[in-house]
Amino acid sequence: MDILSPCYSYLDSTIGKATGYYPYFRVISSSDGPVVTVNGQRVVMLGSNNYLGLTHHPEVLKAAHEALDRYGVGCTGSRFMNGNLDLHEQLEAELAEFTGREEALVFSSGVLANIGTLGLLGGVEGAVIFLAAENHASLFDGARLSHGRIALFEDVDDLERKLAFRESWPNALVATDGVFSMTGRVADLERIVALKRRFGFRLYLDDAHGFGVLGPQGRGTAASQGVEKDVDLLFATFSKSLASLGGFVAGDKTVIEYLRHNVRTLIFSAALPPASVAAALAALHVMRRDSELFTRMWDNAAFFKQGVEALGYHTMGTRTPIIPLFIGSEALAFQMCREALELGLFTTPAVYPAVPKGHALIRTSVTPAHTREHLQQALDVLATLFERHPLPKEDPANIPPARDTDIVEAAMRILAEREAETQAKG
Ligand SMILES: Cc1ncc(COP(=O)(O)O)c(C=O)c1O
Repeated sequence: MDILSPCYSYLDSTIGKATGYYPYFRVISSSDGPVVTVNGQRVVMLGSNNYLGLTHHPEVLKAAHEALDRYGVGCTGSRFMNGNLDLHEQLEAELAEFTGREEALVFSSGVLANIGTLGLLGGVEGAVIFLAAENHASLFDGARLSHGRIALFEDVDDLERKLAFRESWPNALVATDGVFSMTGRVADLERIVALKRRFGFRLYLDDAHGFGVLGPQGRGTAASQGVEKDVDLLFATFSKSLASLGGFVAGDKTVIEYLRHNVRTLIFSAALPPASVAAALAALHVMRRDSELFTRMWDNAAFFKQGVEALGYHTMGTRTPIIPLFIGSEALAFQMCREALELGLFTTPAVYPAVPKGHALIRTSVTPAHTREHLQQALDVLATLFERHPLPKEDPANIPPARDTDIVEAAMRILAEREAETQAKG
């Protein structure tokens, strides 16, 4: 078979665009954080991961500008060779201190950190990597790259059942997100840590969505559950609460020293650019200092969650600023996101494989930078959409996953209807 044949037979995006369902790569031509411009229209942004609203904070912008002036726009090489700035090391030292670890290691993106670290660690002979089924794609990719054995678990009960096949698991790494990115569900780390004590595995926490959100000063999911010390390797990104780009892994000095000299995605990839490092560092300072940010984030999250639930949406028990709206049908989630945008609201659909088939969501998230007017405007749009479209009344937990996705089927139906209309018009 021609190695490029999947490319030539790929039609999903073409069909999506032809029917107006296509919800990806929407072009943003300007942004002030809570409001962005799309197709010349100013719309409220509820589709970001800007949990602390720091992308436009004056101190963060100033630090990025100063770094540009001092170091230029790029490092033109890996940290290993020629791109290691004092700023990278300052950020690492401050992250280690903040997270209570001996050392931290900064990567050019969170994906690179996860893929490289799991890819390396899972290479140990006999390694088994247990992955929460809802984890981010990069944990799956890292585990696959490692050639270690992979075992998925749906929840902690399932993990316990799978671990119970042996008395101890020194060869195993359990990797879980702290906050699952689509549903805002928080992992039960206390129970996972109890299993760790019983079975002796190592624990890798991807706290991309918990860092800067949960725990004292935003120290994350483990801090919020009092189990920080039980996490062997803590990962988080700068691309969410810290408003920048990049990621880090923190842990014991000996482990980080080994990673620093062996993780291929660090050694063979150009260093995080100066302005991004400086922005992450400044955002960390603001986050540690300004408790008011957290107050506003939680107030806005409570206001918006209450608002959408009063309209009739199911928010799937979220306890974070990620507020999912359960839709069910994938085609409908796409359609509602498109209509929301037309009415002035930017949201993102989450469909299979990010969520189970037939469990599509509209993912929203609020930030401290949203005003009540922004959120009320968003609620008004969602009220209109709720009136337009019938949504399932049952608890999503009781809705079994569908066998197939419905997107392509719905899109084909629309195309056929349009074709019939054109023919009828002659
Ligand atoms: C849970 C989780 N882990 C890792 C990543 C990757 O982070 P980055 O955007 O820094 O590559 C993301 C980003 O979406 C994420 O949601």
